[in-house]
Amino acid sequence: MKAIEITSFGAPEVLRMAERPQPVAGAGELLIRVAASGVNRPDVLQRTGNYPVPPGASDLPGLEVAGEIVDGDAAAMKEAGFAAGQLVCALVAGGGYAEYCVAPVAQCLPVPRGWSTVEAASLPETFFTVWSNVFERGRLQKGETLLVQGGTSGIGVTAIQLAKAMGATVIATAGSDDKCDACLKLGADHAINYKTADFAAEVARLTDGKGVDVVLDMVAGSYVAREIQCLAEDGRLVIIAVQGGVKAEFNAGLVLRKRLTVTGSTLRPRPVVFKGAIARALREKVWPLLEAGAVKPVIHSSFAAAGEPSGAAQAHVLMESNAHIGKIVLTW
Ligand SMILES: NC(=O)c1ccc[n+]([C@@H]2O[C@H](COP(=O)([O-])OP(=O)(O)OC[C@H]3O[C@@H](n4cnc5c(N)ncnc54)[C@H](OP(=O)(O)O)[C@@H]3O)[C@@H](O)[C@H]2O)c1
Repeated sequence: MKAIEITSFGAPEVLRMAERPQPVAGAGELLIRVAASGVNRPDVLQRTGNYPVPPGASDLPGLEVAGEIVDGDAAAMKEAGFAAGQLVCALVAGGGYAEYCVAPVAQCLPVPRGWSTVEAASLPETFFTVWSNVFERGRLQKGETLLVQGGTSGIGVTAIQLAKAMGATVIATAGSDDKCDACLKLGADHAINYKTADFAAEVARLTDGKGVDVVLDMVAGSYVAREIQCLAEDGRLVIIAVQGGVKAEFNAGLVLRKRLTVTGSTLRPRPVVFKGAIARALREKVWPLLEAGAVKPVIHSSFAAAGEPSGAAQAHVLMESNAHIGKIVLTW
């Protein structure tokens, strides 16, 4: 099969099309003929040598795919209600930038009715991450307020829409006025251009000094101190990335006085059983919202994986330019 390899750590040009043996589905797995592969920031980190592949995962990049089931563990597929020929999307721990990809049955979901495989390929990584971090770890409830950093990232567009659909108020940050407009169009109640305003002061103003109940943070570093300030009593700060640095200095007294929770997680190395539980929750609570059109995939661009330079390299150039709003997808 054709697959995109990381030939050495470096610039997007290190992503090259190569021939690889087609993977074989093992126990509890199925084989997908990939129609489209989602591109995520962790793929960029992997390409630059800043995100080691978890033990046992494919060295090929790509954390999510959509396509047709061509083979698999018959008993596991039957139990999950899947059959050969069906269109699914899947969260994988690697190997998504390829014509064929093996996925644990537990991490597959049907392509939601009304959406294409390109749209479905954009869903798993951000929907699993947002569900797990905002609703499980962050325990966001109806009527509460969420602050989403990076509102137009793949993660951000998902967090805004899901939090709104669940009845929360959403404040999003983004790095330009156009991106702030995009956040509002996606349903955010307020958007803050973090380059021209202090998000902590704006949150205090927008919440009449009360603060927000949950912060979804992908920056960390110097943001943590201001996020601690932004939280309401019993607030939860959930860190999912450290783009602004791993070290933070903050007023620990506020954690005590406001009874705050500071937490975080990373999805990729978690076991199949954990990801399978998220898949079940998504199928029950979120897939109906997608099928009703209340929550939508947000595709900024798609690139054909084949071609010179590879569509994957072009996709990574775009992602690193930070010009995108929503998701970037490769097609096969
Ligand atoms: N922990 C996990 O399990 C997990 C899973 C998936 C992804 N992630 C992480 O989540 C982040 C988003 O992933 P993605 O695939 O959605 O990436 P993406 O679409 O490339 O988004 C990156 C975002 O970071 C924002 N950003 C950068 N610096 C910022 C700052 N100082 N303040 C506010 N926003 C800032 C950018 O916003 P502007 O362009 O507006 O500046 C951009 O929207 C990445 O860091 C990724 O590694 C974590």
